[in-house]
Amino acid sequence: MVKVAIISGSLRKESFSTKIAKSVGELFPAGYETQFVEIGNLPLYNEDIDTESNVPAEYTAFRNTIKECDAVLFVTPEYNRSISGALKNALDVGSRPYGKSVWDGKPAAIISQSIGNLSGFGANHHLRQSLVFLNMPTVQQPEVYLANSPELFDENGKLNEGTTEYLQSFVNMFIDLIIRYQR
Ligand SMILES: Cc1cc2nc3c(=O)[nH]c(=O)nc-3n(C[C@H](O)[C@H](O)[C@H](O)COP(=O)(O)O)c2cc1C
Repeated sequence: MVKVAIISGSLRKESFSTKIAKSVGELFPAGYETQFVEIGNLPLYNEDIDTESNVPAEYTAFRNTIKECDAVLFVTPEYNRSISGALKNALDVGSRPYGKSVWDGKPAAIISQSIGNLSGFGANHHLRQSLVFLNMPTVQQPEVYLANSPELFDENGKLNEGTTEYLQSFVNMFIDLIIRYQR
């Protein structure tokens, strides 16, 4: 079973990023298991509290969860033309201790979304910048920028058909990438 971690960059209860993340999780085929990984409980990264004898339990649990996954899908909102502090914090927590990053080598994919027209382009590319450094081969095409996100859902809170089809083609490309990098 191939395990895919799904991370939303928003902590908001009614977050569109989280709703999209959970819907995309259902588009993976048999043989893939998706796991929505929470990041809201992670204390702000501070090397002083990340010592061998005294690692916060939340850091350890998060690192172990990501370690057990084969790939990571990020769904990010845009905060001031970048990613949220919560998502950056999660990247930082997973990247340490030095030399033991849990992200290293794991295939990744990015969806950005915004309630406006600009679709989180800034967040999408800031996230890509960190993933280059974290050595995560990332789906290049299709790029997924979802604009006007409240309009992507029907009255029952389900992602509409066109968006679902588009995201299915994206998931298929992600799977191709995962297979290419399977160790
Ligand atoms: C601190 C903050 C900064 C924001 N900055 C941007 C921005 O730069 N670009 C943008 O399109 N939307 C921006 N927004 C609006 C978000 O796109 C909107 O709140 C969106 O719903 C957040 O995603 P979520 O529904 O997953 O929480 C910002 C929202 C917040 C709270």
